[in-house]
Amino acid sequence: MSLEEEIVRLKKEKNAIILVHNYQRPEVQDVGDYLGDSLELSRKASKTDADIIVFCGVSFMAETAKILSPDKTVLLPRKSAGCPMANMAKAEDVRKMKERYPDAKVVSYVNTNADVKAESDVCCTSANAVEVVKNIDADRIIFVPDRNLASYVQRFVDKEIIPWDGYCYVHDRITKEEVLKAKEEYPDAPLIVHPECRGEVINVAVKALSTGGMVKFAKESNAKRILIGTEEGILYRLKKENPEKEFYPSVKGRICWDMKLTTLMDVYKALKEEKYPILLPEDIMTSSRKALEAMLHYA
Ligand code: 13P
Ligand code: SF4
Repeated sequence: MSLEEEIVRLKKEKNAIILVHNYQRPEVQDVGDYLGDSLELSRKASKTDADIIVFCGVSFMAETAKILSPDKTVLLPRKSAGCPMANMAKAEDVRKMKERYPDAKVVSYVNTNADVKAESDVCCTSANAVEVVKNIDADRIIFVPDRNLASYVQRFVDKEIIPWDGYCYVHDRITKEEVLKAKEEYPDAPLIVHPECRGEVINVAVKALSTGGMVKFAKESNAKRILIGTEEGILYRLKKENPEKEFYPSVKGRICWDMKLTTLMDVYKALKEEKYPILLPEDIMTSSRKALEAMLHYA
């Protein structure tokens, strides 16, 4: 039996599902039951009736699945797969910020560790950040940890947003000069970028979208060629689902190394040996669940 067939067999035997983020390796995307962005995968995790969720992504995503489905076994096939941006916000510093701005509410991007979510009033993803901030009952928002997403949201709301000084090293490195060069090379191709990019990059794009939003745009757009400003793992899915269209990265080499750690063998081992289960303290689970459920309620 091939590795893929073994994975399918184990999945059935153990009543497991495999959730896969859009940046994962092609062969991992191919064995997924659901492929999506952070919001789509959180929703799936909160609704599944599988006993085991194998989460192919990074740790904050698997933690989110566990918090929303506490009775299920949630496995992260590669223990060390994390999000460097999530590690830029520490719970202790968020507590200090709350003391400094007692009238503000804390909106934390899902790209945070569970103890930071536990300090937050509501979470958001790149797909619903604007809606969440619009709907939350506060005029002052501490937005953790992505400064670029914070300033993107600020464009759409009158509220005061106090940004954290975090950033994604993959998206923050995409420059205005390189995307302008790509636009020159492909003048007929609309440029879509992730809202984790800098404001000056978003300004020259037709849209800033979550990875799930990009998948939808690619399907619905009449354009034959599309320029993509995000982690390049998504290109595999875009090309596979739209074989008649062409997709180009705004520049090559924008890779999130943590998203590339998980291999097919890791997925197989995760199912076979039930590795590595997400375990979180009860109090953190309870408080962070409130912030995640508030997000699902708002947007
Ligand atoms: P999405 O929710 O848009 O998939 O983004 C997740 C992420 O980590 C972006 O860097
Ligand atoms: Fe984190 Fe950026 Fe990687 Fe997304 S692409 S997981 S935000 S480091």
